[in-house]
Amino acid sequence: MYIKDLGLYEGKEVTLKGWAANKRESKGLVFIIVRDGSGLCQTVVDASKVAEDIFEAARKVTLETSLIISGIVVKDERQVGGFELQASHVEIIQTAVDYPIAKKEHGVDFLMDHRHLWLRSQRQWSIMRIRNRIIFSIHQFFQEDGFVQMDAPIFTGNACEGTTNLFETEYYGEQAYLSQSGQLYGEAMAMAMGKIYTFGPTFRAEKSKTRRHLSEFWMIEPEMAFYDIFDNMDLIERFLRRVVSDVLQTCKTELEIIGRNTSVLENIIKPFPRLTYDEAVSIIKGEKEVNGKNAITSLETELEVVKKRIDEIHAEIKEREEKIKTPGMKKGEIGFNQAKIDKLKQELDDMEEQARNIPQWLNSAKTFEYGNDFGGSDETVLTRLFDVPIMVYNWPHAVKAFYLKRDPNDSRFARGVDTLAPEGYGEIVGGGERETDEQLLIEKINEHELPMQAFEWYLDLRRYGAVPHAGFGLGLERLVTWICKLPHVRESIPFPRMYGRLLP
Ligand code: 4AD
Ligand code: MG
Repeated sequence: MYIKDLGLYEGKEVTLKGWAANKRESKGLVFIIVRDGSGLCQTVVDASKVAEDIFEAARKVTLETSLIISGIVVKDERQVGGFELQASHVEIIQTAVDYPIAKKEHGVDFLMDHRHLWLRSQRQWSIMRIRNRIIFSIHQFFQEDGFVQMDAPIFTGNACEGTTNLFETEYYGEQAYLSQSGQLYGEAMAMAMGKIYTFGPTFRAEKSKTRRHLSEFWMIEPEMAFYDIFDNMDLIERFLRRVVSDVLQTCKTELEIIGRNTSVLENIIKPFPRLTYDEAVSIIKGEKEVNGKNAITSLETELEVVKKRIDEIHAEIKEREEKIKTPGMKKGEIGFNQAKIDKLKQELDDMEEQARNIPQWLNSAKTFEYGNDFGGSDETVLTRLFDVPIMVYNWPHAVKAFYLKRDPNDSRFARGVDTLAPEGYGEIVGGGERETDEQLLIEKINEHELPMQAFEWYLDLRRYGAVPHAGFGLGLERLVTWICKLPHVRESIPFPRMYGRLLP
């Protein structure tokens, strides 16, 4: 019996097993909101209807106490979930004393230190369920499309994505690394299966604290024989459209709880704009507009608006703070004004963060040097102008991975493609067509100073029946973060591993 199924039991007696998410008392009544993982249900314990010891037990229920409650299911539109339980029996399993996460606001560090408990909150519950749905959808999409799932090794003897962020470990006395990507193994498997995808943990030692980087994250890497970069882009688009559509359809409650405005997500049915690196650079530098919007001037205007709003908020907070000092003011009115002040302070935090960020974005856009890879700020500047994911392709080969195919029409470029999420989120997918020319690949491996001997097996793929092929890697947490519009990637994974955090 789960709360999500209460609708099937209207008027009947059921037993719920769960935790107390909230409790209040009023003359002879105790209201306990029970959560059981599937949803929330208000239960009413009425002193006039239950034995005295049961009522006393209900009164002792504290936040997050585990319990079993039986009662009759009554329809009540006003309650969470649309039903209420009129309790006949309450049994406490374990009383939680002083649950650390109270109703009041906590700082992020405190919540992260209590991640094992924070996961029970409504917001985290919603995000984790959306993550679960995304994972399910990803498997469904690839399985229905004839892809074979493969597990790439986690201990590896070679670097796939550069040597600067490798986690080193020891493997029976030999130097080894935790996998940064399953791609190279995926390429081998694609030559056996045609189309494959990996779905596994990957590791990057990122010694910086950004809102986009984890040290351990989950990556989905499809690899397809006989695909070129354009087939690859078609697949990325079809794939993301399917996953986002599934979430929209099946996670309405969760999206509502986290307050996600879904109109941007609904744009996923529109074609994803495809820009070359050159075009994207002109947009970032403000030389080219997107739907009449200029990256630089629109940010400058926004900064003015933000600054004006900050002044307004300061003035309003001051005004209300004076007001509640008025002698004889009613308790209700003080409470009302205090609530407004708290809300304004929250908005102020947001606005002040923007006032700090925008000048940095402007600076990095104005000073962007053609030929460089995009940094987080550049991606933000670019994607704030769009309301659908965009694909940027044909990158300067010098800044991208060694395995990307050189553009046959212009050897300055490599056939890589990044997919960037809108609303300032930036890269969620990196991929491209693979180099199949053994000599060019050997040159690249040398250029990147990678140990040739560790790549001999990879070069074999170019010696025995090489075919054009392409693939990509989707960062699961980056997708969850954008879909849920989270301020930071740390809330997109149950127990984040990032610079400076190994616990809980
Ligand atoms: O762009 P990346 O480094 O590409 C690869 O690893 C390729 N081997 C993929 C392929 O073509 N098969 O990483 C792919 C994606 C990024 O677009 C991003 O979404 C995610 O992985 N990612 C991270 N997510 C969280 N934290 C990090 N430190 C990440 N680094 C990459
Ligand atoms: Mg990348």
